[in-house]
Amino acid sequence: MFSKAITTTTQRTVVSSLLKQSKCLFTTSSKKNNFDGLYEKHKKIADVPMKTEEVMKAISENTLFTWNPSATAAASSIVMERGEGVYFFDKQGKKYIDFNSQAMCSNLGHTVPQEVIDAVDKQLKTVAYAYPCGLVTEVKAKLSLLMADLMPGDLNHFYYVSGGAEANETAMRMARLKTGRHKILARYRSYHGATLGAMGLTGDPRRWGSEPGASGIVHFMDPFPYTFSWGSTEEEICQKSLQYLREVISYEGGKNIAAIFLEPVTGTNGILKPPAGYLEGVRQICDQHGILMVCDEVMNGFGRTGTMFGFEQANNVIPDIVTMAKGINGAFIPLGAVACRDHVAAHFQKSPIGIGSTYNSHPVTLASAYAALQYFLRTDVLGNVHRMEPILQSLMEDLKKRHPTVKTFRSLGLFGTVELQKNSRGEPFVEFNGPAHPAMAQLKNDMISNGLYTLVRFSSFFTNPPLIINEKELRQGFEILDKCLTNLDKHFEK
Ligand SMILES: Cc1ncc(COP(=O)(O)O)c(C=O)c1O
Repeated sequence: MFSKAITTTTQRTVVSSLLKQSKCLFTTSSKKNNFDGLYEKHKKIADVPMKTEEVMKAISENTLFTWNPSATAAASSIVMERGEGVYFFDKQGKKYIDFNSQAMCSNLGHTVPQEVIDAVDKQLKTVAYAYPCGLVTEVKAKLSLLMADLMPGDLNHFYYVSGGAEANETAMRMARLKTGRHKILARYRSYHGATLGAMGLTGDPRRWGSEPGASGIVHFMDPFPYTFSWGSTEEEICQKSLQYLREVISYEGGKNIAAIFLEPVTGTNGILKPPAGYLEGVRQICDQHGILMVCDEVMNGFGRTGTMFGFEQANNVIPDIVTMAKGINGAFIPLGAVACRDHVAAHFQKSPIGIGSTYNSHPVTLASAYAALQYFLRTDVLGNVHRMEPILQSLMEDLKKRHPTVKTFRSLGLFGTVELQKNSRGEPFVEFNGPAHPAMAQLKNDMISNGLYTLVRFSSFFTNPPLIINEKELRQGFEILDKCLTNLDKHFEK
């Protein structure tokens, strides 16, 4: 149970005035490194809950945000006070249903399973940190055995990092070292992470701010570009987009290409399941040219799409390298991983990967993953995704029937998006990377004020709840969406 710290009025008054105190008391140049009284100040602050305004003041004055200007981002942020199941609460006790699992990562919801708490606690009390060059831990061995059992084929070898971008950086490096080639192909409708190489792989406009970036990356279009179409049937789309990929490879030179990176089911760029035969076709093309197929499972992995991994939506496709993060441990502690097949691992048995971060194989986060994955299996989270999948699908269908602003929707597993239109010609409220539209901002505000949190991007929003959601909660989320869309429908031009 969550319990609020009991605070006396005097304690509160003292803390309020401490929070207003100038930093210069401790760090003026004349008193450099004189921290007298600093511990006492922060001990008092630490013991008393902050008010929302105090949190927001410190956040806007002392932190920076990512994709949006920091001032705007700070002003629109919710102070998250606690989480429980598929919900989280702000400081005023307002409850939000989490319809995006935060960054499609809180797959086990916001209540940390007791076995994860116990495993982390035990790890902290035994080996809290081990230098990964020369020191190994039992938890690393056990997690790797479990991971090898979860992954199909000979994806038996694991390298642990701190998140998805670092997993992709490592995979790029491994592919280049293994093949001795430099070029890498990645798709336009993709996101692969925020570090230099992962940003280079990223095809969507989030890459632009990092350019000029990593060298040797060539982008190509996937089967579902934004406006361009490869054809009218799934078969034609698949065949033409593979033919085009072959042509790109002939321009770049197959013998120069180390790897093709792709999200098996595209995530933030639109929840796009590839047409039947596409992943199989990419696998075949890779085999023909000795190119490594790298699947970015950072978002797909661990049940999101209804299969354990997104590439398992295809028939018998085993990528050479798989990158993972997020769902690997429900995002309770930062963790990413790279899996590779025997033939890739064989290369690195004889030759170093040649990079390594301090937090590679951090035992505490590995313990969280080992326990979280056991919880995933014990409580049959994948079975829950299978049970909820048709319900999500039918709730989406209902939304489309009821609201003229719903243009289309896509979902598989518990991975979904709804695309919105402003008129009967099917035009979006916001074009791809286009200027904001007040109706979309209003939609986002309506969601928040009605207690639903999700990602709204361009002219769409996402339905990616924690994988532990039940039918009642799913229906409750859609009731809120229905209400918000009724407001949005007022902007529909016939
Ligand atoms: C498909 C995909 N790859 C990579 C990443 C980057 O992962 P991280 O933010 O953990 O670095 C993300 C993050 O959203 C992602 O969705």
